[in-house]
Amino acid sequence: MQSFQDLIAQFSQHFEKQHFPEQPGKLYGAASHILEIGGKRIRPVLCLMGNELFDTLRPDAFEVGTAVELFHNFTLLHDDIMDKAPLRRGKATVHTVYGESAAILAGDVMLINVYEHLNKVDPHYKQKIIAVFNKAAIEVCEGQQLDMDFEGMDPEQVQYDDYVYMIGLKTSVLLAASLQLGAIIGGAGDGNQQHIYSFGKNIGIAFQIQDDYLDAFGDPEKFGKQQGGDILANKKTFLLLKALELCSPAQREELKLLLETSPADKVERVLELFRSCKVDEWAEKEKERFQQLAFQSLDNIAVLSNRKAPLMELANYLLNRQQ
Ligand code: IPE
Ligand code: IPE
Ligand code: MG
Ligand code: MG
Ligand code: MG
Repeated sequence: MQSFQDLIAQFSQHFEKQHFPEQPGKLYGAASHILEIGGKRIRPVLCLMGNELFDTLRPDAFEVGTAVELFHNFTLLHDDIMDKAPLRRGKATVHTVYGESAAILAGDVMLINVYEHLNKVDPHYKQKIIAVFNKAAIEVCEGQQLDMDFEGMDPEQVQYDDYVYMIGLKTSVLLAASLQLGAIIGGAGDGNQQHIYSFGKNIGIAFQIQDDYLDAFGDPEKFGKQQGGDILANKKTFLLLKALELCSPAQREELKLLLETSPADKVERVLELFRSCKVDEWAEKEKERFQQLAFQSLDNIAVLSNRKAPLMELANYLLNRQQ
């Protein structure tokens, strides 16, 4: 069993290659740009770890990991357009540099490229791999649509459970599927595949809670995204939903007015209200709750418990990350 840090290094080496041809320069420049500016490479590493939990690492796990990382980057290209985000991984977003058309098309090409990689895996489990991947990919789109729908709704219309359901789709299912895809390559049975998926689903929810927390309270230098981007876009994050629940009636009115009117100092004022309602502290407890649920599923996987240590370490890293 290898540490997640070693696997990140191995995967990064594998992934560092020319993925696209030269011309048209604007299309492939946009596609290469997002791949070359970094990223944690978490999803492919989950794929490798899912494989290694059950058997020795197979080249197919690198192929599927590449597919999953390309898919993730495709979602980021389109997500940054939808979220009107100026920064990603500490750099100007692709659509602001290359224009929206090139960013959309670069995402499309990447998505098609995904299937070139999936197509190379052992025919023995190729159908299952593609079915699991496709299910997750469709769910990501469903989650992204709900996220956009919520943006335009009043906060009272969005319940906390709706938020958890939405982030479960837009973010968690891809982490969960990455683990399951690796487990399939490792020869895991259906029961173990379900347990590892459920582990990933709950870790993914806590991962998005941390993402929403960092969007508001993170150090933009480390996080690499615009601070308060979610506040500017009126995203219905747990911070907003929970703040409205915990604050005084006067604070609630102030918060709602800030959402409706978007003054120049909106981010600072909303953050001040978030802090006074202590939603930042509440986030810690909520991440722990989902982490415990995840660890219960990990317990249920029928392999020796010392083999699970790297997954627990990765979970701890993901939920306390600053970037
Ligand atoms: C960002 O994912 C999108 C979310 C689902 C929150 P990551 O935080 O894994 O992004 P990179 O690939 O490391 O930049
Ligand atoms: C995005 O969630 C999830 C996907 C890209 C599918 P966010 O919109 O919160 O991701 P970031 O913060 O822009 O990375
Ligand atoms: Mg976004
Ligand atoms: Mg988004
Ligand atoms: Mg975010």
